[in-house]
Amino acid sequence: MTGTTSPRDRLIVALDLPSVAQARAMIETLGDAVSFYKIGMELTYSGGLPLAEELVRAGKKVFLDLKLHDIPNTVARATEQVAHLGATFLTIHAYPQTMKAARQALGNSPLKLLAVTVMTSYDDNDLREAGFALGVKDLVARRAQQAKEAGVHGLILSAEEAAGMRAALGPDMLLVTPGIRPAGADVADQKRVMTPARAIAAGADHLVIGRPVTQAADPKAAAEAIVAEIAAARAP
Ligand code: C5P
Repeated sequence: MTGTTSPRDRLIVALDLPSVAQARAMIETLGDAVSFYKIGMELTYSGGLPLAEELVRAGKKVFLDLKLHDIPNTVARATEQVAHLGATFLTIHAYPQTMKAARQALGNSPLKLLAVTVMTSYDDNDLREAGFALGVKDLVARRAQQAKEAGVHGLILSAEEAAGMRAALGPDMLLVTPGIRPAGADVADQKRVMTPARAIAAGADHLVIGRPVTQAADPKAAAEAIVAEIAAARAP
């Protein structure tokens, strides 16, 4: 749990931008308002890893959303490399072999692993088509438990699932939730959304927010407003 984490560090701004130049301009605009950034696959494949290191050197925190999944040896070796970049969070898929390999490879690194249980684009039919016997709800619960057993530090999940997972997994599992929209913000392609205050009340430790900040008329003011809402929110 992040009881001592500042409200600012609980906001993670998703840098879903096509180039490092655009990401750098956004980081400049946001200035001190934002302390934690998520770099996903799009930006990673267009020069985002050196940017991640640059951010760490500048005192920012970085979440590398790389969703690792491969044979254990490859996952372990990739995790060792990511650990050198200085990031705070790395995502992996919640397969037992993958989670155990990544956890063991961390050694004494302060890098924390977040497991993606079931992609939110999947429903029960998609899982069946892919050969799974369990539906979404049961598979998420099983993988969350396996993540805890593997010593994985946290989960990516929707805010709607946060309260149930907090109750099932206890206070130490980090819960990181995308799909957050401040009241009145454009929902865009997100379907199940929650406001920052409600997500914190549901037990989320960190909120991943992209477009409501990066596409706001005044991104810095939008980020400041979200941090203020987090600060005023009542944790469970
Ligand atoms: O712009 P928006 O706030 O919707 O961005 C949310 C971020 O969280 C994006 O980077 C998206 O890829 C990520 N994400 C998500 N839903 C998930 C997992 C990750 O929206 N289930």
